[in-house]
Amino acid sequence: MFLAKFFLGALSFSAGLDLAFAQNEIQTPLTNQDAPRRPNVVFILTDDQDARLESLQYMPLVKKHLIEQGTYYNKHYCTTAICCPSRVTLWTGKTPHNTNVTDVNPPYGGYPKFVAQGFNDDYFPVWLQQSGYNTYYTGKLFNAHTVNNYHSPYPSGFTGSDFLLDPYTYDYLNSTFQRNDEEPRSYEGKYSTDVVAEKAYGFLDDAVHDTKGKPFFLTVAPIGPHSNIVVGDMSSTKADRPGFSEPISAKRHQSLFEGVKVPRTENFNPGHSSGANWILELPQQNQSNVDYNDHYYRQRLRALQAVDELVDGLVARLKEYGILDDTYIVYSSDNGFHIGQHRLQPGKTCGYEEDINVPLIVRGPGVTPNYTTDIVTSHTDLAPTFLELLGIPLRDDFDGKPIPVTKAEIEATEQTRREHVNVEYWGIAISEGIHQPLTREHNTYKAIRLSSVDYSLYYSVDPGQLNNLLASSDSVSNKTLVAGLPKEKVASRLDALLFVLKSCQGLTCREPWRQLHPIGDVNTLADALDARFDDFYEAEQTRVRYEFCANGYIIDAEGPMWETHGLAAPYMRDGASWDEWV
Ligand SMILES: *[C@@H]1O[C@H](CO)[C@@H](O)[C@H](O)[C@H]1NC(C)=O
Ligand SMILES: *[C@@H]1O[C@H](CO)[C@@H](O)[C@H](O)[C@H]1NC(C)=O
Ligand SMILES: *[C@@H]1O[C@H](CO)[C@@H](O)[C@H](O)[C@H]1NC(C)=O
Ligand SMILES: *[C@@H]1O[C@H](CO)[C@@H](O)[C@H](O)[C@H]1NC(C)=O
Ligand SMILES: *[C@@H]1O[C@H](CO)[C@@H](O)[C@H](O)[C@H]1NC(C)=O
Repeated sequence: MFLAKFFLGALSFSAGLDLAFAQNEIQTPLTNQDAPRRPNVVFILTDDQDARLESLQYMPLVKKHLIEQGTYYNKHYCTTAICCPSRVTLWTGKTPHNTNVTDVNPPYGGYPKFVAQGFNDDYFPVWLQQSGYNTYYTGKLFNAHTVNNYHSPYPSGFTGSDFLLDPYTYDYLNSTFQRNDEEPRSYEGKYSTDVVAEKAYGFLDDAVHDTKGKPFFLTVAPIGPHSNIVVGDMSSTKADRPGFSEPISAKRHQSLFEGVKVPRTENFNPGHSSGANWILELPQQNQSNVDYNDHYYRQRLRALQAVDELVDGLVARLKEYGILDDTYIVYSSDNGFHIGQHRLQPGKTCGYEEDINVPLIVRGPGVTPNYTTDIVTSHTDLAPTFLELLGIPLRDDFDGKPIPVTKAEIEATEQTRREHVNVEYWGIAISEGIHQPLTREHNTYKAIRLSSVDYSLYYSVDPGQLNNLLASSDSVSNKTLVAGLPKEKVASRLDALLFVLKSCQGLTCREPWRQLHPIGDVNTLADALDARFDDFYEAEQTRVRYEFCANGYIIDAEGPMWETHGLAAPYMRDGASWDEWV
């Protein structure tokens, strides 16, 4: 809260400064002793980087510059474990059921769907520019942003941009980039992440030398450690169609980490199958499959080394320019990744912890160094967080809320911040390794990830069957349940919560328990488990179910929908904004 007010003051100062330039072109000093400078942001967004498979432990420079100098959010989640929907959520502050960008390709997703939904005129970089920020972006923006559609229209909101384009986005050694309004350009033979690094350094230089002294927001989005995809000859009809394979590292990193293996956690290639639906039918992987997956894992770590160097390069330059202390550096990934857990081949698209828990590290003005927190945060929160840090007013239709960044603010919200993440997915599952390279139909589901000091739960409903997975991973044991209550009791509450969340918007997403208990006496699962609510949850509530399995957000498939029954209305005082609920 302090930060928001602090920088709001700075905002009006800057507007005045711009006006002075326009009127008499007098060179006013860029810094003013009396007014604080508006902070800059450098946002590094990796692709498919896990938080659970220890990838960050192999990034010493991220550790040194970001983790040890900043705050690590141990319970940060994406809401949809695949690139494009997750990125659209990130840049709009809305959950995929409110963007309806639910897939990587049309008709349900990809850049064309983002444009068709009207977001290109109304999303994060546009808001930033309207608030006086310069905005720069290099790397991957969205899927299905291609050498054919990059100009129809150009992505809005960027002072400078240099995007990776499909179908060459994931070709580590033959990428195609497209700068501002220029033609696409091939970088055959150059290592993709190194090209991104050079472009990022160039934009940083532009940003620092802006003649108006505007603050900036620079996003750097390398593809590491995503799988490599070589498209081959596009005109060919033969077998050299798009093929997934393990990521490729820069040559200088290709021999690192010999002997390193996927962490052998309890859920790694288990002796009994686990999960639901098609996952329940997966065979245990044989030794050559496991060996390949270990190799695949090492390739991810190797591909991340160029990202690690990129972070070092950015920090070194920020220091040289003398703006390191005025700049937030934020590090995250669009979604997580699994390799071998639950017998899965390398991939994402599932609701498991490996897929949805992603790194989030923040360093910058006021952020506590070398600190880790367990407050629950998600990608719906990032746009609101950035706006708040930069002193830009929030929007009422955000599905998430600002993430606190100072230790004092984090500790103050530990008891009150929501404990849920609304997880959703539509469409197919994809295996990205060389084994069982099948795409699985029917991977549509809705879920809640709930985490608190007392419990850690994952609850999921899919169209095929009602599967209650009342524990993280598959080790269902009574002791993980709240107050030793039967699973069914917990499930009834989670089902009602999911029923609210699956079609929530804005405030309903941020405060779902208030929809069920408008008086405000229930804010957590623990509260809802009170025996006096047994009837309310076990008898009165509608169950979440699907009418059929669809590959997109088709209303007819979604089953019954929550209606507020006018319950929430009396509790929204006139003029009350959701800030008061935070
Ligand atoms: C590299 O990509 C370009 C398109 O940007 C393509 O024309 C060329 O054939 C590719 N080279 C290889 C070796 O695949
Ligand atoms: C191991 O499993 C893979 C993937 O299912 C299969 O392609 C391969 O033939 C198997 N190898 C052996 C030695 O059984
Ligand atoms: C960060 O904290 C860890 C223990 O939590 C400590 O071992 C380490 O020295 C600290 N690093 C810095 C740079 O303060
Ligand atoms: C687990 O909970 C169920 C339902 O309350 C109960 O019937 C069962 O005995 C419990 N099992 C263990 C191992 O405590
Ligand atoms: C989402 O988009 C798809 C594809 O355009 C469309 O068929 C569907 O009706 C949309 N869903 C909603 C809820 O608007």
